[in-house]
Amino acid sequence: MANRHHPSVFLVLVTILLSIYHSEQLQSSHSQTLLRIQQLLNFPASLSQWNNNTDFCNTDSNSSLTVVCYEDTITQLHIIGERRDSPLHRNFSIESFVTTLVRVPSLKVLTLVSLGIWGPLPGKIARLSSLEIVNMSSNFLYGSLPQELSSLKTLQTLILDNNMLSGIFPYWLDSLPAITVLSLKNNLFNGSLPNSLGNLENLRALSLSHNHFYGEVPDLSRLTNLQLLELDDNDFGPLFPLLAKKLVALVLRNNSFRSGIPSELSSYYQLERLDISLNTFVGPFQPALLSLPSITYLNISGNKLTGMLFENISCNSELGVVDLSSNLLTGSLPRCLVSNSSDRTVLYARNCLDTTNQDQQPQQFCHTEALAVGILPEGKKHKQVSKIVISLGIIGGTLGGVALVLLIFCIFRRGNAKRRMKNPPTRLISENAASGYTSKLLSDARYISQTKKLGAVGLPTYRSFSLEEIEVATNYFDTASFIGEDSYGKMYRGQLKNGSLVAIRCVEMKKRYSTQNFMHHVELILKLRHRHLVSALGHCFECSLDDSSVSKIFLVFEYVPNGTLASWIHDGHARKSLSWTQRIGAAIGIAKGIQFLHTGIVPGVYSNNLKIEDVLLDQNLVAKICSYHLPLLSNMAKVRHGNSSNGLKNSSINKNVNVEDKSDIYDFGVILLELILGRKIKTTNDAAAFRDLLQASIGADEEGRKSIVDPAVRKGCLDQSLKTMIEICMRCLAKEPADRPSIEDVLWNLQFASQVQDAWRGDSQSSEGSPGSPLQSQRLPFH
Ligand SMILES: *[C@@H]1O[C@H](CO)[C@@H](O)[C@H](O)[C@H]1NC(C)=O
Ligand SMILES: *[C@@H]1O[C@H](CO)[C@@H](O)[C@H](O)[C@H]1NC(C)=O
Ligand SMILES: *[C@@H]1O[C@H](CO)[C@@H](O)[C@H](O)[C@H]1NC(C)=O
Ligand SMILES: *[C@@H]1O[C@H](CO)[C@@H](O)[C@H](O)[C@H]1NC(C)=O
Ligand SMILES: *[C@@H]1O[C@H](CO)[C@@H](O)[C@H](O)[C@H]1NC(C)=O
Ligand SMILES: *[C@@H]1O[C@H](CO)[C@@H](O)[C@H](O)[C@H]1NC(C)=O
Ligand SMILES: *[C@@H]1O[C@H](CO)[C@@H](O)[C@H](O)[C@H]1NC(C)=O
Ligand SMILES: *[C@@H]1O[C@H](CO)[C@@H](O)[C@H](O)[C@H]1NC(C)=O
Ligand SMILES: *[C@@H]1O[C@H](CO)[C@@H](O)[C@H](O)[C@H]1NC(C)=O
Repeated sequence: MANRHHPSVFLVLVTILLSIYHSEQLQSSHSQTLLRIQQLLNFPASLSQWNNNTDFCNTDSNSSLTVVCYEDTITQLHIIGERRDSPLHRNFSIESFVTTLVRVPSLKVLTLVSLGIWGPLPGKIARLSSLEIVNMSSNFLYGSLPQELSSLKTLQTLILDNNMLSGIFPYWLDSLPAITVLSLKNNLFNGSLPNSLGNLENLRALSLSHNHFYGEVPDLSRLTNLQLLELDDNDFGPLFPLLAKKLVALVLRNNSFRSGIPSELSSYYQLERLDISLNTFVGPFQPALLSLPSITYLNISGNKLTGMLFENISCNSELGVVDLSSNLLTGSLPRCLVSNSSDRTVLYARNCLDTTNQDQQPQQFCHTEALAVGILPEGKKHKQVSKIVISLGIIGGTLGGVALVLLIFCIFRRGNAKRRMKNPPTRLISENAASGYTSKLLSDARYISQTKKLGAVGLPTYRSFSLEEIEVATNYFDTASFIGEDSYGKMYRGQLKNGSLVAIRCVEMKKRYSTQNFMHHVELILKLRHRHLVSALGHCFECSLDDSSVSKIFLVFEYVPNGTLASWIHDGHARKSLSWTQRIGAAIGIAKGIQFLHTGIVPGVYSNNLKIEDVLLDQNLVAKICSYHLPLLSNMAKVRHGNSSNGLKNSSINKNVNVEDKSDIYDFGVILLELILGRKIKTTNDAAAFRDLLQASIGADEEGRKSIVDPAVRKGCLDQSLKTMIEICMRCLAKEPADRPSIEDVLWNLQFASQVQDAWRGDSQSSEGSPGSPLQSQRLPFH
């Protein structure tokens, strides 16, 4: 298929063929060996002329047979048979064959193609110690490659395409300093590629097409000679490989790549062939690829690339094939592609282009799909991320001071396999130590039993996750899974094997702590499971290889799909805004969450610096607090400098326990204020000013009072209910912490406001607006 892209192979072959020597008489032992080979290969047609009298060094060569001699030795042997589909008879023995072959130790170039050779390649082939080029394609070799090949210090080219070889990628390859071409297409190799591949600086062509390789492509950016990289029909991904700029052909077709296309690609001035079709590449398509100076074949079909094309985009005149089909492109087809010339193929079906030609989708399709894959254009990541967080309504709030963690087992980062092999004792020891400590902690039961019952409603059991699980869930921390970042680290969305969605917070440790340091958090995180808290489902530790200290913690949380409460209040026009009843419901949920934090666990968790952005809504619009304060994380985690200080958050921090209790009440008051007014309260001064406004509204008539309420809910809210909400809100916002109500008081009032409202709505068809004594007719949802 892409054979013309093996320039280096041809170069070497040509050079060697040009240096052919017309030789003297061959050593007779060599003649005997060749005749024996003929016999062992069961007399293939290409060798039909060989017999006892043949002068092997002086016969004409043709495409299926070439023997090259130097003085009285054979240096090259090319035999190409016709057995593409049938292996040699059962009596064939690859052992005997290779044993015979190695009697010609002068061989430098060996081609044995389509001869039906079957069996595992014997290690003794390495006795041909002068080998430089080997092509044994299209046979029936199976098993793994013998490590003995690593002794072939002069081997430049190894081609074993179209066999049935299996096992992992030959990791010993970096002991072949001369290797320039490696082609293992169409075999059954599996596993991931070793990082040492990135050290093979002479490599010019690497073809691993159609195997079962998977995982990330190692960093190849130091392979400055690499011209051909073919990785098609494997399971590589999700990140675009790191490559040097001299590539001539890059084929990533039909893998599991899911990242964006790096902008550097537009500067690969030698690139002739680019095929990234049939992956899930996302982000913008770079039109500059069309005008790369050498490009002749460009195929991006079957991805989720986005972006707008313009008529005035330019193309390289040599461009012969362009396939843009099945992406999410919009705009108009570039004029340079619309030509009648029959020597250019241009395909662009199944996009949202502004043309009636080929099959196009409606604009809306591309738009929705683009949002669904979460586009992260290169360079604009930060801006874009925040947009996506809003537009997808994913966890926007931070998990603030969440530092909870425990440990049941410890994962060592893979990567350097050899090093890991040396370390197993450490791993065992730390696991044992950890589980011992855990059971001691668990026996130290500090749960409040009723709370335990209340919490964790419908949540799966808390457990530890393996690093592999985390990686698979987030697609190896794919940019498409990235949902945001705050001072504590990055946050990813993920999907577990069982299909459930999770949010994964990655916390980097600023200092090296042993896993034991985290032991007392085991209990804490286990306890923080409640219907109105975004609850942890588990955790995973990543430990440093050097000293097995914890370098990262991944916290796995339930995924809350409906965005922040803030987005339902402040951007009311963007989506359906919450009704008055729903706002009271949300407030009740938050208050219950706070009540749980304060009194549901021992010791209580205070001073949570709650903001409306820290409240998420689930699919049933149940409010869940996603940011609560655990003092330890702030000390342990690597906290980046940044936006963590703004007005309200800092103002409520106070060390005194009694006051801490009430600082959450104040913060809750601010959230109530925002629910009532439907606007963002940015500073404590704003809060004070609006509190005065509330105060005034209490004395006003119903109409006056309603005039301050968010217009989106003004109609549907009953005055009695509104009044109750305003009163409790004002009390929460009291300057003196001692004047603020208890959380129980808050909850009671909210429940009352809710019931008054419900009763009115229930009665409103018959008797207009008379609440009567609603409390008697309603169940009190207090537990
Ligand atoms: C190549 O030459 C050999 C004899 O040297 C002959 O048997 C064979 O048929 C030739 N093959 C082709 C393809 O010409
Ligand atoms: C070739 O020589 C061997 C002995 O060297 C002999 O056994 C064989 O019959 C000969 N074959 C032909 C075709 O002459
Ligand atoms: C192997 O079997 C084939 C077919 O039966 C036969 O032609 C050939 O001579 C045998 N070869 C050997 C080396 O026994
Ligand atoms: C291996 O040899 C066969 C037969 O000459 C040839 O068709 C093929 O292109 C070679 N493989 C490579 C990668 O050069
Ligand atoms: C490769 O495949 C073999 C058999 O199909 C399997 O036993 C082995 O575990 C696989 N190795 C890897 C690294 O996937
Ligand atoms: C994609 O590659 C896999 C092997 O990795 C193969 O089985 C499948 O047929 C390929 N799909 C296409 C459309 O070529
Ligand atoms: C582009 O790639 C797709 C999928 O690999 C393939 O089906 C299609 O034929 C290619 N287009 C062209 C013009 O070669
Ligand atoms: C191409 O056209 C677009 C809009 O049609 C315009 O914004 C852009 O500047 C143009 N680019 C060039 C290079 O003319
Ligand atoms: C392309 O061919 C069509 C007829 O097949 C003709 O009408 C049109 O003018 C041609 N366009 C160009 C740019 O040559």
